[in-house]
Amino acid sequence: DGPKPLKGRRVIVTSGPTHEPIDPVRYIANRSSGKQGHAIAAHLARLGADVTLVSGPVTIPDPAGVEVIRVESAREMLAAVTAALPADIGVFVAAVADWRVATSADNKIKKKEGEGPAPLALTENPDILKTVGHHENRPRLVVGFAAETADVIANAEAKLARKGADFIVANDVSPATGIMGGDRNRVRIVSKQGVEDWPDLSKDEVAERLAARIAEAFQA
Ligand code: C5P
Repeated sequence: DGPKPLKGRRVIVTSGPTHEPIDPVRYIANRSSGKQGHAIAAHLARLGADVTLVSGPVTIPDPAGVEVIRVESAREMLAAVTAALPADIGVFVAAVADWRVATSADNKIKKKEGEGPAPLALTENPDILKTVGHHENRPRLVVGFAAETADVIANAEAKLARKGADFIVANDVSPATGIMGGDRNRVRIVSKQGVEDWPDLSKDEVAERLAARIAEAFQA
């Protein structure tokens, strides 16, 4: 069943959205389905890697042949990722919420007659990719994603350096593309070597090519 260039290599993949609690029944989330991250985890496992998939809340099935750790919030995702270090390769696909509610309520926030909505003070979440990209146990190969709706390449190039990544897989998630939550993806691979433009592919095909590309870069 195919060559195993990543045999014995430890890989961490993040996937899905995060849920940031407002109170016990409400949360802030985003439209990520986990399809792309889960497919990448599956293809890396097929190439022989020992894959830990740290997933936010998704409704799709666990991919075959990978260890799945389920989390809800960005802080839980960071804790699970750092606990899974050291690793040879890290692939950060999750659409982590940039902000969370500063102090989530212990009880459901009640609607109060005549008082208007409760204010939600937000605070910044940890950046998991950036933390791992600059970590003392940094994996040898670190891959990030950049979902943008404008200035896709310029933003991806800035992210490479700032986040300590070797590759940024950039995609345009403007609503008209149907990429967020959809089955197809059109990506560009941004690295110090330049920009690779990939054609419009299914998310599974993007995952297969990316797993092969990662194996090639890891061996170089
Ligand atoms: O800065 P931006 O969110 O566009 O960066 C996207 C990349 O950073 C993705 O690889 C994403 O998984 C990762 N990221 C992260 N933790 C965050 C925000 C983004 O790991 N808090």
